[in-house]
Amino acid sequence: MKPSIIDLSQHKEFNEYISKVNALSGEKKLYQYVYTFGCQMNVHESEMIQGILLKCGYEPTQNPESADVIMINTCCIREHAESKILGLLGTLSHFKAKKPELVIGICGCMTQQEEFAKKIKSKFHHVDIILGTNSSQKLPESLYRALTQQESKKRRTLYLDHEDMTICENTPILRAKGVCSWLTVMYGCNNFCTYCIVPYVRGRERSRTPEAILNDARLLVESGTKEITLLGQNVNSYGKELDYSFAKLIKELNKVDGLERIRFMTSHPKDISDELINAFGECDKLCEHLHLPLQSGSSDILSKMNRRYDMDTYRNIVKKLRNVRPDIELSTDLIVGFPGETDDDFKATLDAVNEMQYSFAFSFAYSPRKGTKAAVMEDQIPEPIKKERLNKLIDLQNSISQKISANYVGKTVEILSEGRVGADDEASPSNDPMRQVGRTRTNKKVYFTADNDTNGQLLQARITNSVSVTLGGELLK
Ligand code: SAH
Ligand code: SF4
Ligand code: F3S
Repeated sequence: MKPSIIDLSQHKEFNEYISKVNALSGEKKLYQYVYTFGCQMNVHESEMIQGILLKCGYEPTQNPESADVIMINTCCIREHAESKILGLLGTLSHFKAKKPELVIGICGCMTQQEEFAKKIKSKFHHVDIILGTNSSQKLPESLYRALTQQESKKRRTLYLDHEDMTICENTPILRAKGVCSWLTVMYGCNNFCTYCIVPYVRGRERSRTPEAILNDARLLVESGTKEITLLGQNVNSYGKELDYSFAKLIKELNKVDGLERIRFMTSHPKDISDELINAFGECDKLCEHLHLPLQSGSSDILSKMNRRYDMDTYRNIVKKLRNVRPDIELSTDLIVGFPGETDDDFKATLDAVNEMQYSFAFSFAYSPRKGTKAAVMEDQIPEPIKKERLNKLIDLQNSISQKISANYVGKTVEILSEGRVGADDEASPSNDPMRQVGRTRTNKKVYFTADNDTNGQLLQARITNSVSVTLGGELLK
């Protein structure tokens, strides 16, 4: 089934409500703040929420307490994400007590779960707007109602998306960074891995047209983008309903003048075609890094997870990739403590990590998600065992990551500069105005100092030191 497209630039209601909200504020300066939880898809979708709020007349602020509208873009992938969001909702009730005209909204994966959305509606009266995933076209209307209606019933909106097969095009976007940009190629997931909530909250797979994606890519490059990361829950199944392939899309993007680097995430091993593997050899802009979630090194557990590949298949993909692009670096996602995971199964994961030599891994303790098959499987693993396994896995991966980083020392690499590093940089905060950061093609951060702002430039750097997964370097003239 082909998705139906909602063009927001032509959407009558969407644009009328934007004008109405603007008319309400008049000359008054208003501010927005968006909290983001979850994956890169969510980070990018928050850029869209910010874009819509900017159209409504709300400028971004760094300080949530000075905001007039606050949105929380949620994630429900693990229990930990959910509890953080509930804690934040508590904090925001104090903000609202101090500033009753503040509008608070919540959206994204957690709210798309009907039970949770209803709980918010009945128990958290300081929340005015509740939107699920794929419902951004409702944001201006919801905001208008929150601002104009006195009666709680009309003021507070709850809107969940029940149409699986729609795509919004031309959503306004406020991009955080100009040089490296996210570009969504598809939405949803059809895979139903037994532990995962995503297919229930993000709906079925639907791909944007290649024309729309290529057009976006050209516009991004015109406005200064050098690197594009293609986004989707399962990007390499892109185009199935359009009779088009992901590898073909990469080859077309590789022809876009002025674009320097292409990345994508996340890909599912079962959908890695030979055509895509070969694209790593053919497309000079496709960077030599691939995030390829393994989840477990035990084929038994992979089967219970409904991953639809086994260790041999995975091994074979990696072998082919390294043949085509010997310098490719891999990263991965791993889960420990899936129901029924034995000591031997866990050991198989450690063995796989040793074998694959990932440059980086996101490792998680299995978290049961209501409504998924694994949540009701027998032999749930006790929390202390999950924790113990997770720590062992993290220790092993850290030692491998450090070794791979240390191998860079003394080498010369190409970096794409993302400019100055602020005091808020996660890996290496700095108050030195000349301290800057760039990324290698293998997606490693390199910190360096330079006399002028190098943002957006491709530079050659010699690596001088390594700390965990990040590198330090000096620029070559
Ligand atoms: N679509 C992507 C991943 C989406 S979620 C993919 O398939 O690769 C990101 C990661 O969260 C997953 O790869 C998995 O490792 C982890 N994850 C998902 N559900 C989880 C759960 N219930 N408990 C623990 N980790 C989970
Ligand atoms: Fe979840 Fe599996 Fe889909 Fe990834 S592929 S989003 S892990 S169901
Ligand atoms: Fe979380 Fe939704 Fe992404 S559940 S990981 S924000 S798809």
